[in-house]
Parts: sequence; C-alpha cells; structure tokens
Amino acid sequence: MKQLRFGLFENAQANDSGTATWRHPDNERDHFDSLDYWRNIARICEDAQFDFVFLADAWGWSEIDGSRPDICSEEALDLPRLDPAVVAAAMAAETEKLGLVITGSTLLEQPYAFARRMATLDHISAGRIGWNVVTTGTAETAASAFGIPMVAHDERYNMADDFMEVVYKLWEGSWEPDAIERDKSGRFADPAKVHRIEHEGPYFRSSGYGNTSYSPQGTPVLFQAGTSERGRQFGGRHGECIFLGGSSIEKMAEQVKAIRAEAVSAGREPDSVKLMASFSYVVGETREEAQEKFEAILAAQDPGVAVASYAMFTGLDLSAYDPRTPMTDLHTELSQTQVTRFAGLTVGDVLKDWHAFGVRGKPVVGTAEDVADAIVDRAEGADLDGFLITPIVQPASTIDFVEHVLPILRERGIAPSGYGQTTLRERLLGSTSAVLRDDHPGALFRSYSPVVA
Ligand SMILES: Cc1cc2nc3c(=O)[nH]c(=O)nc-3n(C[C@H](O)[C@H](O)[C@H](O)COP(=O)(O)O)c2cc1C
Repeated sequence: MKQLRFGLFENAQANDSGTATWRHPDNERDHFDSLDYWRNIARICEDAQFDFVFLADAWGWSEIDGSRPDICSEEALDLPRLDPAVVAAAMAAETEKLGLVITGSTLLEQPYAFARRMATLDHISAGRIGWNVVTTGTAETAASAFGIPMVAHDERYNMADDFMEVVYKLWEGSWEPDAIERDKSGRFADPAKVHRIEHEGPYFRSSGYGNTSYSPQGTPVLFQAGTSERGRQFGGRHGECIFLGGSSIEKMAEQVKAIRAEAVSAGREPDSVKLMASFSYVVGETREEAQEKFEAILAAQDPGVAVASYAMFTGLDLSAYDPRTPMTDLHTELSQTQVTRFAGLTVGDVLKDWHAFGVRGKPVVGTAEDVADAIVDRAEGADLDGFLITPIVQPASTIDFVEHVLPILRERGIAPSGYGQTTLRERLLGSTSAVLRDDHPGALFRSYSPVVA
C-alpha cells in the first residue's frame, strides 16, 4: 500500500464544520483569537510531521435561524472569525517544515491583491503555502456584506476560471524566478526579467507588473473541494490536491475516478491530482469509552444550531419543510454538495444528522486500532492519497490521533516519518520540482523556461 499524506483541518473560529462544540469542557478553540492557540496547534502538527494545517474559511452568516434571530453570535456560528492568511503567517513563524493551506474565495477576493498576499506567504514560509480555491457556495449574506450581487452556482466557477488566469499571469508570468540579483554593487533586479501582464476577461481585468517577485513555489499548491459536476470539472483542471467530504467508500471511489477523468480531459496525468478525504473520529481506550466521549460531544451542542447552520451552507430553511420531504425535492444555488449527499434521506433525517455531524460526515468511534483500520479500508477501497484529519474537540482530538492512531499507521508503514523535501508541493505531490508541473494549465502562463533537472 502507498504511503499516505496527512493534513489537519482547522478553522479560525470557535466552532467548525457546522456544529457547535465550543461548549465542550475540553474545547480550547473558544480561544481561537489568541496567538497561543495557533502556536500550540502549529507545534503539535509539526512535531507529528503532518504535511500541512488547512485553515477553512467562510464569510457571512445565516439569517435563517429557526426561532432564534441571534443564534449565530450566541453560538459562535461562523461569527466571529480571524483571517486565515494572518493566522498562517503566525504559524509559519512558529514552524520550519509544516505546510500551511489557506482558503480564499474567487467570488469575494480581488485577484491582484490576493496574488500578492499568497506570494508573500510563500516567500516568508520558504515554499510551504497552499490555497484552497473556493467559489463561496455558502451564505448570500457574504455577497451582501461585500456589496456585490450573488452569482449563480455554475457561473461562480466561470468566474473562478477567470480569476485563476489573472493569478497565473501574476505568479508565473510577471517576475521570472531569477529576476532578482540583489547585487549591492550592481542592481537589485534585472528589468528584462520583469514583465507586464495584461488581462481582460469576462469578470476581471488587470494591467501592470506583479507586486511580488517569483516565490519559491511560484503558484501556491492548489487545493479544491467542489464535488458538483461543474466543481469537479474545475478541480480536474486546476486542482493539485482535491479534498473529498468523508462519505461511503463507494461514493468516494466514484468521485476519485470522476476527478481523475476530468484531469485527463484537461490534458493532465491522472495521478498528478492527489485525493484526500476528510476523516473524523473519536478515539477511546475501549469502544465503550469512545462511545461515551462521542455522546459527551453530542450533549455539548445546542440542537437549535442545526437549522441555521444548514442554511449557512445551502440557503435552505429545513424548519419550513415537512420533515418527511425527500431531500431530492430540494435545490440550491449555494453548496449543491450539501443537498445531493443526502439523496435517499428526508428533511427530518438531515436535521438530526446535521446536529450530530454538521458538514463533517459521521466520525469513526472506536479504539485506535479501529480508527487505523478504517483509514486503511478507505484508502484502499477508494484509491485515496491521504486524509484531512478533522478533529472535533481541539486540541484534544488531534492529540488523540497523534498519540494513539499515527503510531499504528507508522508501524504499518503507511504514514511517513520525517519531513524530507521542504516545499509543500514536492512533499505532497511527490514532485521533483517546487513549481507547477508542465502539464498544469498554470504553466502555460510562464514567462520563463523552467530548468529541467
Ligand atoms: C474538506 C472540505 C473542506 C472545505 N472547506 C471549505 C472552506 O473552507 N470554505 C468554503 O467556502 N467551502 C469549503 N468547502 C466546500 C467546497 O469548497 C465547495 O464549495 C462545496 O463542496 C460546494 O461545491 P459544489 O457546489 O461544487 O458541490 C470544503 C469542502 C470540503 C469537502
């Protein structure tokens, strides 16, 4: 079996994944707004040799609240947050090898400023940055807070394609990698290696020089997670690492095949795209103890959160439907994944499910051996390249994984020991180069010929 890669799911807010575990007595994420919290997470992850920490992000909040108009602030549901790019910079200062993947929205960011922020992070972390490209399929309140109209589902991906073209031009085409000479008796940079970019697309325009020079990876490692048809098409074209929500092995296997097929139709090698599934768990010394821990997690949550939280992802108010309504009757222009994954269930089933698991999928509850076995079964059954470890109570759940599950996976030879190469791209993709592969569409925008080793 191949060696698996591991990242840790994090979120710079008190809760995450649509549940409200902030009241759990062991949860320290209610102090997500302190530097100490992030230093501690960074140290735990680098000591455990995780490939990266992933910082999810969302803008906006739910205004569909069941009967409680103030529920978002009362239960810290997507409000308040911190900016993941700034948190990543703090974690970069605390670590040397750990990758840092941040979420950025192609609907809400401006590509020119965003390209600079990512290149800055890639420079100061010496090539450890990844970008989770999202089209922001969550609350329409985000668009109204930015003062822009909400854009329909598939069109958001057209917009994202245009956004990608601008940032590729800036990252790959404006400054050649060896433009900087830093010669105190000569010049700082060679102007012949600095190029203007011109972009006039359907959604974005830019004309001028990149504001940052070529960073160690050029383009940050590109992550993506859309599973709708249009989302998969986008991921197969641009994504280097695709996250799957944790569903059944059969469903994940289908998604893996479909994404690799999309990559091939975009002219890429099928294995140039790595697939990582999110994986949630509750570990106990015994199965009984794990079950008790899981029940304590459920008891810590306010059931009223589920309606508002589901609406944040889909805009759908499940409290307004007869609980027997089949989910296949519902449609959204926000996150379609969060509707289609419940095909076969009713509105009532989904409300219960969402209270327990949110967007995260059902955790594996058992001993460390049970959890390790579940990881192996999923990796083999769905042909996965790795896992996005998704803790429920932070940092206790991560520590459980690191202390009890990871050693078993290492003993079985399927979790790496030692960091090896330093850039995130080389390590995660098993690539011999820190920059985009030649068959990636972003490579078309290069103003230089990469040195072939
Ligand atoms: C593991 C994982 C992490 C995700 N993180 C975020 C995130 O931080 N922000 C966000 O807006 N969407 C996030 N998503 C949602 C996807 O990016 C995507 O918007 C969603 O699956 C809907 O895509 P679709 O409409 O193409 O199905 C995540 C999805 C998964 C599976």
